[in-house]
Amino acid sequence: MLAEWFKHLRTPAPPHLKAMGYVKELIAVEARHRRCAGAWAPHLETCRKLIGDAARDAGHGRVTVLGSGLLLDVPVDELAGLFKEVILVDIFHMPAIQERVRAHANVRLVTADVTGVVEATWNHVAAGSVGPLPPPQADASAYADSDLVVSANLLTQLPLLPLGLVQKKGRGYGEEETQAFARRIVENHLELLAALPGRVTVLTETQRVICDGPEVLHEIDPLFGAALPAAAVRKHWTWNIAPRPEINRKFDLRFRMTGIPDLQEALP
Ligand SMILES: C[S@@+](CC[C@H](N)C(=O)[O-])C[C@H]1O[C@@H](n2cnc3c(N)ncnc32)[C@H](O)[C@@H]1O
Repeated sequence: MLAEWFKHLRTPAPPHLKAMGYVKELIAVEARHRRCAGAWAPHLETCRKLIGDAARDAGHGRVTVLGSGLLLDVPVDELAGLFKEVILVDIFHMPAIQERVRAHANVRLVTADVTGVVEATWNHVAAGSVGPLPPPQADASAYADSDLVVSANLLTQLPLLPLGLVQKKGRGYGEEETQAFARRIVENHLELLAALPGRVTVLTETQRVICDGPEVLHEIDPLFGAALPAAAVRKHWTWNIAPRPEINRKFDLRFRMTGIPDLQEALP
């Protein structure tokens, strides 16, 4: 914990991203991955294989990975070997990731908020505004010239920190309004992906399950009521993200995962 805190202190980042918890979250994922490496391995392998299979099927000009994060589920070396250009997009790239991709001349890191809502929410809350919460403003044109776009375990992460900020510090927003805000962010990302002309691969959790061994104690919808395209061919698996005692000695946290290898196939 102390090491994580110290790392957070020493990692330079825009103040609003630090204050909202983006850097803390990346450092926490890195630490949890170290602690739960065995439990995470099948999930990460499944993701890398899904992305690798989609990559071999697509044209090989440019691939864009949205939510590249710590490159745990992204087979970046394979992508760099297949494509002329690999674009890794995240709201914040840790220094270790900047170091890691230096080995590939055709891999580029792009720092961007793919929702367009993060800074607007920060400013809205900081100003003490009470009006409607800012709408997501995602721009598909930024990724339209990619042969393949991968949304890499990003979808359900998009609303969490803006929502957390509004719930903690926003003035007078009730449950209904904040849940609708989160849902709009999820739906907006799905709309962005649907608007892309090239191949799109989506990896996402679709349910969070708190369980005691095989017994399900509680289920949470991380999509806030949004729905993935019903006709999409999917692969399902479970990510054993926090086996006890990671977050509690008495229960485990699992994610039900969905991979859509080709989103466009499912669209009308
Ligand atoms: C669970 S991680 C995805 C795992 C990642 N693909 C990996 O292999 O490590 C979610 C990522 O989404 C990023 N993220 C969250 N909100 C974002 C936003 N609004 N725009 C861009 N990236 C965002 C986080 O910084 C994090 O790296």
